[in-house]
Amino acid sequence: MRKFALPVLLSAMLAATAGATEPPADLVAEARGLAKTYVTELEGALLAAIEEGGAPHAIDVCGAEAPGIATAISTKSGWAVGRTALRVRNPRNAPSPQERAVLMRFLERTAADEDLKKMEYAAVVDTGGRKYLHYMKAIPTGQICLKCHGSDVDPETMRAIRARYPADAATGFELGALRGAFTFVRPLD
Ligand code: HEC
Repeated sequence: MRKFALPVLLSAMLAATAGATEPPADLVAEARGLAKTYVTELEGALLAAIEEGGAPHAIDVCGAEAPGIATAISTKSGWAVGRTALRVRNPRNAPSPQERAVLMRFLERTAADEDLKKMEYAAVVDTGGRKYLHYMKAIPTGQICLKCHGSDVDPETMRAIRARYPADAATGFELGALRGAFTFVRPLD
């Protein structure tokens, strides 16, 4: 279980002024490590599922296991953990205004030739008299992701996606393009 609701926190943050405080380096490093754990576990689960039953079967992995992995990381670490993007498959992953602004900035940084693989954002945000650390890590579109997020998704996979996600907007991504971001929040006490 999440200790606090990420979307609620993030919308509260928009109303708040971003503090001038530097984000604590140790906590930023911790978030970076958690993002790495998330990637490793998710990609491992995806690859295994695709090998086992093909892409349609693996839809359940990106769909059901990703939130499960996020919850496990959240419970263990005390950070609220999520995935978001400018174009989402699941409306529940839609970005808050704060997250959208960071994602737009990621696109600008990509256009300025910054390496997406290392792209991140960290800020201390002051809201309701409490300080929070917000960390985001860019997610590039890898080869395997194209099976379900590319421009040429096979019809059987596409049918399975549409059946479960009628509002899907998460196809048409190119290899190496910004797919989305991991987003992490924790209170600073
Ligand atoms: C087998 C199909 C499949 C593959 C392969 C796949 N995804 Fe997904 N992806 C999905 C589904 C289904 C969702 C919706 C998850 C949910 O319900 O939260 C999703 C959601 C996401 C989201 C959250 C935002 C949103 O659109 O809802 C991100 C980010 C994402 N995928 C990135 C990736 C990346 C990066 C890869 C490659 C490493 C990848 N996906 C590979 C099916 C897939």
